[in-house]
Amino acid sequence: MIHRPRRLRRTDAIRSLVRETRLAPENFVLPLFVCPGTGVRREISSMPGVFNLSIDETTKEVAAAYDAGVRGIILFGLPETKDPVASGAYAEDGIVQRAIRAVRQSTPQMIIMADTCLCEYTSHGHCGVVREGEVINDESLELLAQTALSQAAAGADIVAPSAMMDGQVGAIREVLDREGFENTAILAYAVKYASGFYGPFREAAQSAPEFGDRRAYQMDPPNVREAMREADLDYSEGADMLMVKPATVYLDVLSMVRERFDIPIAAYHVSGEYALIKAAAQKGWIDEERVMMETLTSIKRAGADIILTYYAREAIKALTK
Ligand code: PBG
Repeated sequence: MIHRPRRLRRTDAIRSLVRETRLAPENFVLPLFVCPGTGVRREISSMPGVFNLSIDETTKEVAAAYDAGVRGIILFGLPETKDPVASGAYAEDGIVQRAIRAVRQSTPQMIIMADTCLCEYTSHGHCGVVREGEVINDESLELLAQTALSQAAAGADIVAPSAMMDGQVGAIREVLDREGFENTAILAYAVKYASGFYGPFREAAQSAPEFGDRRAYQMDPPNVREAMREADLDYSEGADMLMVKPATVYLDVLSMVRERFDIPIAAYHVSGEYALIKAAAQKGWIDEERVMMETLTSIKRAGADIILTYYAREAIKALTK
């Protein structure tokens, strides 16, 4: 007898009946880049369809995204000025803090996440305090905790530490709890690789390091056992959710994190992963919608419950058409 798996591939209806992985609108989180000014809507050249938005434009964008089915956003900020200690990251009236308040007012149902890092706010562009060319871990923790606290105070539902400083999740949890924000959740960028795929983001967030690179704090791409250690540490420091980043070239890592931890797992489909698809599509070399959905499906199949992606709106559109 011949075994015939093709029986279950015959029609759309049958394929759908036996489909193992399904994307849903609620899986997606849309990243947004908030900048100073009013009426600013500046497209990022290496990320077609993604913009630097002033706060007034951000609130419009968020309302439109909510109408389109997006239920979560993550905010990044471009401050007016930068300094060595990232003052803009934890200022009460910082760009992200103001954006959080504005969005909370205009689209109260939206889940608001805030990226908790210093690199967009430091004059040198590193994710922590720098002394003699080195990023100093424990002093940076203090500032990261202040940043998370100011974001929580502004009304963020979830803070997402991405600086890859040791102990950052624990330091943030402690301050949040002490200050009465025990209900603010932490999405830990637990496994974040030093990746070439962040190139376009650094244009979008104007956060390229002035000297050196991030290899002394972000993870070395060949390592996977070390990724489990990073995930383990963040889990035990109190992370509510764990993230792997980038997504597609680290699906093996994502699937191992999924296997080991019984809390929600997120993956960040980063700027470079988005740009690759966009560029090939603009050249007419691939079918953008098809490649986008296949890519996002692979991330979910590998184990992500939550996918941060610049394609959030387009993906939801494709799902609901
Ligand atoms: C901040 C941060 C980065 C990204 C998310 N948070 C940049 C970096 O580490 O250089 C990258 C996101 C993307 O590429 O889409 N540290």
